[in-house]
Amino acid sequence: MTTFATPGAGQQSTLTPRLIELAHALFEAEQTAPVSRFRTPEEMCRAIELAIPEKGSSPERVMDLLEDVALATPRTASRRFFNQLFAGRHDIASAAEIVAVLLNSSMYTYKAAGPHVLIEKELGEHMGRKVGYDDGEGIFTPGGSLSNFAGIMIARNEFNERCQQDGHDGSWLTLYSSELDHYSIAKNLAMLGLGRRSLRKVATDERGRMRADALRDAIKRDIEEGAKPFCINATCGTTVLGAYDPLDEIADVAEEFGVWFHVDGAFGGSTALSAKHRDHLKGSERSDSFTWDAHKMMGVPLSCSVILTKDKGLLRKHFSESASYLFQSDEDELNHGVKSMQCGRRNDCLKLWAAWQHLGDEGYARKIDRLYDLARSFAERVKKDPRCTLSKEPESVNVCFEVTGKPSDLICETLRQQQKSLVGFGIVDGRRVIRAAFVNADVDEADLDDFFDNLVEVAMTLPDGDNAL
Ligand SMILES: Cc1ncc(COP(=O)(O)O)c(C=O)c1O
Repeated sequence: MTTFATPGAGQQSTLTPRLIELAHALFEAEQTAPVSRFRTPEEMCRAIELAIPEKGSSPERVMDLLEDVALATPRTASRRFFNQLFAGRHDIASAAEIVAVLLNSSMYTYKAAGPHVLIEKELGEHMGRKVGYDDGEGIFTPGGSLSNFAGIMIARNEFNERCQQDGHDGSWLTLYSSELDHYSIAKNLAMLGLGRRSLRKVATDERGRMRADALRDAIKRDIEEGAKPFCINATCGTTVLGAYDPLDEIADVAEEFGVWFHVDGAFGGSTALSAKHRDHLKGSERSDSFTWDAHKMMGVPLSCSVILTKDKGLLRKHFSESASYLFQSDEDELNHGVKSMQCGRRNDCLKLWAAWQHLGDEGYARKIDRLYDLARSFAERVKKDPRCTLSKEPESVNVCFEVTGKPSDLICETLRQQQKSLVGFGIVDGRRVIRAAFVNADVDEADLDDFFDNLVEVAMTLPDGDNAL
């Protein structure tokens, strides 16, 4: 009989062998089965018992069910998964994540989490130095969207010192961000009570980078109309094109108008690790806060996102509340709950620390370079094939293209239904284009050939269609 309870003295949990079996079944499927077994939600409900029963089942039965669910899940570690800005699996990071789950620490105090708090501190400072914050700090959040939330919230509170205590005074605060930014910027402004109308979208150049001249004009115009600009958000690695806003030029504007400078490097922040491509982030040291998702290009399991601040003490200033039932031992410096928007908080740092222990700065630099090489290599395939049109030269690790005259959305959906690959589409210059993200460093040239050939082959079976919107 499988047991799940903490074993008593002299007993051993039998959970581990069954879990390993399940993991092997999954690894096997990742190599041999399609990236995703296509089923409609109705078919899925018929295939797997998902309803909560009146009476419980045996551990064996639940483990069988878990295996059914695992094998029915789209496989993000498959070499045919190009759909999202994360993919693949780093074994050591996954092992560390399992360890973190078994430890079940909450990251709010040193008393509860011990060394993990020190690991979080080390990572925040190390990542800060990579973006040019010599004396900064960082805290893990549940994802890039919420790291952006934290950055924008600090910007708002620094602008209006009374806001934390008295709430927003109703003045028209404005934030400036590229027209190609991530939707979390608008969402966060709505969540912060500033409203979406606070978001001023700034035009981009032909490479998808925010134009500093347009930014300056927009700020001047808004000030004349009574707005109070409080924040500029620059994107490092836009979601579709992977473009990098020119940070140095934007920093000049931020300094000119005295506004907070946040960088959304959720996707592209990891490029700071590569000596070859780091220039994309030139000027990051002039920003005030920086979002960096390690679960994207760095390949560790979701979620693993950090909000970095250039100055130490800001996180505590803007997130701390007193709670005598929680913060009882040690100095606040070690009680990370006073720096976080959460109370109970999962341990997202151990997996990144373990992967970094294994790869070192050097190994991570090679990994990031490889992603850029894969994207470049795939773009060459697209350019060479007369049936395809490359939308733009890749700015980083995304490739956007069309199979000329064939509808991009239908191509992606057919690939999914035929279980050949998972890839998505986006909008570039008013056209619906396929966006392939190269974020799995384990993919090789043969995988690229296979993905590309299948995609074009499937496209050729489809009716013609126009991708213009
Ligand atoms: C530029 C950018 N910012 C923020 C996010 C949000 O990150 P997360 O999915 O971790 O919330 C994304 C996600 O793709 C992104 O591309």
